[in-house]
Amino acid sequence: MKRYRIATVPGDGIGKEVIPAGRRLLETLAAGSRSFAFDFEDFDWGGDYYRRFGVMMPDNGLDELRDMDAILFGSAGDPDIPDHITLWGLRLKICQGFDQYANVRPTRILPGIDTPLKRCGPKDLDWVIVRENTEGEYAGVGGRVHQGQPIEAATDVSMMTRVGVERVLRYAFELARSRPRRQLTVVTKSNAQRHAMVMWDEIAHEVAAEFPDVRWDKELVDAMTARMVNRPASIDTVVATNLHADILSDLAAALAGSLGIAPTGNIDPQRRYPSMFEPIHGSAFDIMGQGLANPIGTFWSVVMLLEHLGEAEAAARVMSAIEQVTANRALHTRDLGGDATLQQVTDAVCAAVAGPAAKAA
Ligand code: IPM
Ligand code: MG
Repeated sequence: MKRYRIATVPGDGIGKEVIPAGRRLLETLAAGSRSFAFDFEDFDWGGDYYRRFGVMMPDNGLDELRDMDAILFGSAGDPDIPDHITLWGLRLKICQGFDQYANVRPTRILPGIDTPLKRCGPKDLDWVIVRENTEGEYAGVGGRVHQGQPIEAATDVSMMTRVGVERVLRYAFELARSRPRRQLTVVTKSNAQRHAMVMWDEIAHEVAAEFPDVRWDKELVDAMTARMVNRPASIDTVVATNLHADILSDLAAALAGSLGIAPTGNIDPQRRYPSMFEPIHGSAFDIMGQGLANPIGTFWSVVMLLEHLGEAEAAARVMSAIEQVTANRALHTRDLGGDATLQQVTDAVCAAVAGPAAKAA
């Protein structure tokens, strides 16, 4: 029997609701399995921790996570703490500290869910966006001087390294190769950003030469937004810089019906450190504490977590349970236009995972 050590970091807002739901799903899976089990460790880091200790996570926080097999993360964000503090103090600290350089964001239109696109069939949108996750516009390079003076100045410098660009492009080409269409779109902005993005394009050509079996093209990021709306079926795997992919992935999630269902994995492909899985939606204070959050984004993140652990069969079982539940409109939460609660959706997905025997019992 394999035992996996899973860290849960609910964080803030609805993270505190969806992560316990994710844990319950994993516990349900393990209860029905003879081949694996989970040991959970929960970390109360985030806004409340900051109010008590002045930091989002302890100084040795990364050491506490280091030996975990995976991390299930909720969200970081608090109405009373500046966003850059909550982000840099927790989520980015983990992403950068563990060099999770590939942020993987699959998007599909799940059964029962409507896309706002009029001419898009459910099969026309099946994308994976790979987001560079350690540098670029989020490198943290920059500064601010003469604060409060008329001559105040500030910079956020997007920094790209050959190593950083090459490894994420290679990851994206490999991922594209593993999917049936073997197709990759490299997003760029090298017309306007004439240094780092030009290097990005050059490295794309170099890496592409290693993958003659992958069809690839290049698209400017602004044109990419239009293509996502107008020609969704022309896209399969996508790779983009940290900020470009941040924006494109919100668009992707909205086109697939809701931000509430979108998952992500912050992956260290070399497996030197644990990878981290989280719903994309953020802390959503407007609905927190009311049991209205959609847990599907977390459940799909659990699918990615299981795939990363090599538990492909369990991952497929959870994915099909999710699809069974989204197909039933009575089980749609508010973000999908329904009035189901987090509890109802969680019960339904756990029941579907447990199988017909459990349902009858
Ligand atoms: C995401 C989120 C974060 C980001 C926020 C919370 C800073 O939008 O994961 O896409 O921009 O990286
Ligand atoms: Mg985002």
